[in-house]
Amino acid sequence: MVHDELQQSKLSMPDSENGAPFSVLQQLIGLQQEYHYVPRHEIDRLAVSSGVSESHIIGLIEFYGFLHTTPRGEYDILFSDNITEQMQGSHLLADLLSKGLGVAIGTTREDRRVSLDYTSCIGMGDQGPAALINGQTITRLTTNRIGQIIQLIEASTPLSQWPKTLFEVESRAERRDIVLNSEYQPAAAIEACLKKGPAAIFSQLEQAGLRGCGGAGFSTAAKWRFCASAAAEERFVVCNADEGEPGTFKDRFLLQSHAERLIEGMTLCAAAIGARTGFIYLRGEYRYLLDSLQRVLDQRRKERLLGNAILAHDDFNFDITIHLGAGAYICGEESALIESLEGKRGIPRPRPPFPVTEGYSGFPTVVNNVETFCNAALIIQQGPEWYRQVGTTASPGTKLLSISGDCDRPGIYEFPFGTAIAEILSQCGAHQTMAVQVGGAAGRLIPETEFNRTIAFEDISTGGSFMIFNQNRELLRVIENFTQFFRHESCGFCTPCRVGSSLLVKQLNKVMVGHATTKDLEEMSILGSLMQKTSHCGLGQTAANPILDGLGKFPKLFQSRLRATSFEPAFDLDASLEEARLLTGRDDPEAHLEGGGV
Ligand SMILES: Cc1cc2nc3c(=O)[nH]c(=O)nc-3n(C[C@H](O)[C@H](O)[C@H](O)COP(=O)(O)O)c2cc1C
Ligand code: SF4
Repeated sequence: MVHDELQQSKLSMPDSENGAPFSVLQQLIGLQQEYHYVPRHEIDRLAVSSGVSESHIIGLIEFYGFLHTTPRGEYDILFSDNITEQMQGSHLLADLLSKGLGVAIGTTREDRRVSLDYTSCIGMGDQGPAALINGQTITRLTTNRIGQIIQLIEASTPLSQWPKTLFEVESRAERRDIVLNSEYQPAAAIEACLKKGPAAIFSQLEQAGLRGCGGAGFSTAAKWRFCASAAAEERFVVCNADEGEPGTFKDRFLLQSHAERLIEGMTLCAAAIGARTGFIYLRGEYRYLLDSLQRVLDQRRKERLLGNAILAHDDFNFDITIHLGAGAYICGEESALIESLEGKRGIPRPRPPFPVTEGYSGFPTVVNNVETFCNAALIIQQGPEWYRQVGTTASPGTKLLSISGDCDRPGIYEFPFGTAIAEILSQCGAHQTMAVQVGGAAGRLIPETEFNRTIAFEDISTGGSFMIFNQNRELLRVIENFTQFFRHESCGFCTPCRVGSSLLVKQLNKVMVGHATTKDLEEMSILGSLMQKTSHCGLGQTAANPILDGLGKFPKLFQSRLRATSFEPAFDLDASLEEARLLTGRDDPEAHLEGGGV
């Protein structure tokens, strides 16, 4: 077994869940690990043991990018296809590996020793180019490292014997502010809740003005209050650690270096809303964090900060289970995440009802981002005034940014809300910046003329991704990367997004190869607005942002590629009739269409 050490990090599931339909996805992830695919006999076995139909199980395997019904190589390598890693030469390195191992990208070698492919951003933008090998993260790839990997694979060295340096993921902050500079006091927030009661907690979070850090900025106090007041026998707490937005990696840092704060925040929420069960939905790309997170959970159970009778309160029982994602960006959307937790495909639910009233298993559920839970714990520990000492009136406190791209010091930065983009660029050592993409592929493209704008919910809001592009970059390539990302990640449930994201890629390609006309640009705009208005969920509603922003803020980029004509057909009808001409033996002018196309 090449990845024997992975077997140690088995997913822990409460006994009550084993064998139940909700556990099917987690079982499939285990099977994929064990066999490098999910064999037919295991599908049959799982269908019987879980009571779920075979077609449902196959549907799951087809939905999740990390599950397969056909065998992958013993070494399954996925290069992160994030644009900033492409800028660092990730495609050249993937080509080098492909040649060295004799396996084309997107295929499995005949001897089934190795598979090679790309995957969406794996959250290592500050230490790329990066890749996953059998789910384990390899960072800072160079030509030397590629050579080393080729040797290790050809020698069939088990991953557990590969040099540890290959798998090192650095976890440090380049800039700290009030949150990261605060000492976390174990149990302070939970004790405060048990002593003062939920109403006091909601009121403190409200005074602090804490807003969701996953991007949308919904009031955390309001969310917890809604959930607590929904009439139900059970309530659930869910941490959204899916962090799939390209260029975002700040949750990875918190999960790796500040997991106690996160668990404290989740436990605080449980005490405040009256929940007994919590989940951390950890993206599959962060599987390397699974063991360390389990250790923190175990430690807290030993310290009676988790489990039964927390802090000796007989009536306060709460525990947390980690569920792994399996390579689907859409599962970051909270209702899709809940579907996935329930062992289903991550198709977003209609809203309303919102998770606070009908969430996991139909019960009221709080879903918050990792950073939100961490901040909630600190606010209760330090008081709302402490949080409000920085930031703006509408956006108090600070935001963790994941900075990557063209700058001297990429990494994690904590900035007060209200900080100008120009200031952020100066602090991370960016020079001659042409544009910044704030908020990931779904975010906004900000040109130099707007660098005085600020990171704040009332100005430019962000879940934390901050990608920098200098004046030597071809922005159309950036826009193309984001547009392809959405096409790849669309769950396919609704037509505007499924068809629209594909059409946008084609239309953009037409611009890039110099065949588009002004009419095409108009059509892209119309299609983009249609997708914004009619898509079922946030993915489709934002998928056209990169193109619409590009057209609005950098029109010359597009216009300089246009043909002089006002209309260029989507395909060449005259050329497509060539076969008919050959069959009829004609090539005279009459057999050709005037102008060559439609
Ligand atoms: C396509 C899509 C992907 C998302 N991905 C994430 C994610 O990875 N992490 C996250 O916290 N929120 C993500 N969200 C937002 C969540 O739906 C939800 O608003 C958030 O988890 C709520 O937590 P918060 O209030 O603490 O921000 C995503 C939303 C959409 C539409
Ligand atoms: S908008 Fe896209 S991702 Fe969202 S439900 Fe529709 S197809 Fe799926």
